[in-house]
Amino acid sequence: MTDALAPRTLNDGNVIPPIGFGSFPHHGEDSDEMTTSALDLGYRLIDTALRYENEAEVGAAVRRSSVPRSEIVVTSKLAGRHHGAAEAREGVAQSLKNLGLEQIDLFLIHWPLPKQGKYVDTWKTLVELRDEGLLRSIGVSNFTPENLEKIIDATGVTPAVNQVELHPAFIQSELRAAHDELGIVTEAWSPLGRGTGLLDEPVIRELAEKNGVTTGQVVLRWHVQQGIVPIPMSSNPARRAANLELGGFSLSDDEVAAISELDRGRIWGQDPDEHEEF
Ligand SMILES: NC(=O)c1ccc[n+]([C@@H]2O[C@H](COP(=O)([O-])OP(=O)(O)OC[C@H]3O[C@@H](n4cnc5c(N)ncnc54)[C@H](OP(=O)(O)O)[C@@H]3O)[C@@H](O)[C@H]2O)c1
Repeated sequence: MTDALAPRTLNDGNVIPPIGFGSFPHHGEDSDEMTTSALDLGYRLIDTALRYENEAEVGAAVRRSSVPRSEIVVTSKLAGRHHGAAEAREGVAQSLKNLGLEQIDLFLIHWPLPKQGKYVDTWKTLVELRDEGLLRSIGVSNFTPENLEKIIDATGVTPAVNQVELHPAFIQSELRAAHDELGIVTEAWSPLGRGTGLLDEPVIRELAEKNGVTTGQVVLRWHVQQGIVPIPMSSNPARRAANLELGGFSLSDDEVAAISELDRGRIWGQDPDEHEEF
């Protein structure tokens, strides 16, 4: 079994924590305060994106924090409007400026937008920007196995991470198997199902009661035990703290499997072959 709470080594040799903190959809002071609190609580992987319009607040909190910069993994993402070689350079420059950082630790293409037909050129540019030192690790988000194959074939560079919708109601078995074969770390967005009632499922409630933990902790433990890196968001300080406390109990293989039985499909209907946002 994967050591559930060990840092994850990426295929480029860099290391990321086993769990991160999501920043969407908060802006302004809220975002700054939440990032500061997350860092104080011990989160070391912070997820933002140009599209979230909170990079400036996240970056300010990171720069002001007493946590050494070298211990924090800031993730941001390239918006659809920046697909294309020149555009990707502009997008990265914009994110660096917003964040106020010299380098972004992990930078992802937010969506593949296959109908635009530019994600391969975009990936080539991220490889260049990584080699130039502006990005430390590069990856993708919402990419399908077909999208992954195309960018790897074109460049010989495998993304370090693919961040996708993943939770017990959408377990993404095939994609995860492809990641394992390619050496890609799976990050989970909406890891708790974003308030859709997933946490009220009887199997999750029962396991929470049995272990004396919260339903959120059961679901996050389900992620980390499988080597998936969840990036839960909570605007509630107590939940934000609890979501990081995943030691002290574990799930058996049968319990992990029982939770996985909740698999039924995407909550948000955002099929990467169709979904477009810019
Ligand atoms: N790459 C992409 O395309 C993409 C797409 C969507 C999201 N993301 C990233 O993924 C992050 C997380 O996803 P998400 O925000 O959609 O969903 P999520 O983390 O699954 O769910 C957040 C919701 O769950 C609640 N919550 C958090 N902890 C809880 C707990 N222990 N018990 C009960 N409720 C709890 C929060 O409410 P309270 O605030 O009241 O605690 C909030 O409503 C985002 O912030 C963003 O950074 C990426």
